[in-house]
Amino acid sequence: MPDIVEINDLRKAYADGFEALKGVTLKIKQGEILALLGPNGAGKTTLISTVCGITTATGGTVKVGGHDTITDYRAARGMIGLVPQEINLEPFEKVISTVRFSRGLFGKPKDDAALEKILRQLSLWDKRDSQIRALSGGMKRRVLIAKALAHEPRVLFLDEPTAGVDVELRRDMWEIVAGLKADGVTIILTTHYIEEAEAIADRIGVIAHGELLLVEDKNKLMARMGKKQLQVHLTKPIDAVPASLVSDALTLSEDGSTLIYTYDTRAERTGITKLLSDVAAAGLVLTDLETSQSSLEEIFVDLLKEDAA
Ligand SMILES: Nc1ncnc2c1ncn2[C@@H]1O[C@H](COP(=O)(O)OP(=O)(O)OP(=O)(O)O)[C@@H](O)[C@H]1O
Ligand SMILES: [Mg+2]
Repeated sequence: MPDIVEINDLRKAYADGFEALKGVTLKIKQGEILALLGPNGAGKTTLISTVCGITTATGGTVKVGGHDTITDYRAARGMIGLVPQEINLEPFEKVISTVRFSRGLFGKPKDDAALEKILRQLSLWDKRDSQIRALSGGMKRRVLIAKALAHEPRVLFLDEPTAGVDVELRRDMWEIVAGLKADGVTIILTTHYIEEAEAIADRIGVIAHGELLLVEDKNKLMARMGKKQLQVHLTKPIDAVPASLVSDALTLSEDGSTLIYTYDTRAERTGITKLLSDVAAAGLVLTDLETSQSSLEEIFVDLLKEDAA
C-alpha cells in the first residue's frame, strides 16, 4: 500500500520559543490505523494540528496523498478529516445543519444521501433535527466525527475520540473506526486508553517531549517488548520466598500461594527449567502453572521509564 501521509522532519516551536515538535518523521500507509500514544504535553495534538494546517510548522514538510500541505494546501486539506480534542460545537445549531455546513466548507456539492449514510453510521440519524445543546457529551463526540466525515475525507485524525465516554460508547467508536477502515479510510488517533490502541490499531507510535520514540507494528511490538510471567501455584501458602530461590525475577503473591516469575521472551534462556527444579529442591509442591503476556500498557510504561532514565 502507498504512503498516504508523509511527515518529514516536522518541527514546531510555539511563539514563546517552546519546541513542541523536534523533528518528527513518519509515514502512514493507506488504510492503516495508527495509534499515537504519549503522556500529557508530549506533542500529540501539536503533531495533528500541524499536519492538518491548523498550526504552522516551523520546519519540515507534510504531504497528504502526495499534496504538500503548504504549497498545495486546499488539495491536501480536502483529503483530511479532523476530530479535535476539544468539543467546539454551536449549541443552538441542529445536527443536520452543522454537518451540512462542514461539507460546504470544503466546496463539496450538496449530497444529502452521503450525509444520511454518515449520520446513520454514527447512530445520529434520529437526532438529526436536535439542537446540539440537547445532546449528551458522548453524542456530541459523535457529531464531531460526523462533521469531520462530512466531506468524505480519505484520512481521518481523531484526537482522543473516546476521552470521557463510557465503555459502551467506546466500543461503538471502535466499531465505527473499523467500519471506516473497511471503507479504505486511513485513521490516525491519539489516546490515553492503551487498551484502545491494543484493540484497534495496526501500528503504534509513541511520542514524548516532541520526539517520536518508536513506531512499530502492534503485534511485533508486543512480541518484541513483551515480558511474560509464569505463575507457580503452590499447594500450601508460604510466608516468604525461600532463601535458595531469592532473585529479582521472583515475587510472592500477597496471599503467599503463588510464586510469580517474570522472564524475557527474547532471552535465549528463560530460566524456567532451573526455577522449577529449584522450587522442587526447596520442598515446595505445586498444583498448577500459568503464563501471561504483558499488556501494551506495561510495555508503554516501561518505554517511558527508559526514556526518562
Ligand atoms: N499555543 C501554545 N503555545 C505554547 N505552548 C503550547 C501551545 N500549545 C501547546 N503548547 C505546549 O506544547 C506541548 C505539547 O502540547 P500538546 O497539546 O501537543 O500535547 P498533547 O500530547 O496533545 O497532550 P495531551 O495528552 O494533554 O492532550 C505542551 O508542553 C504544551 O504546553
Ligand atoms: Mg492533546
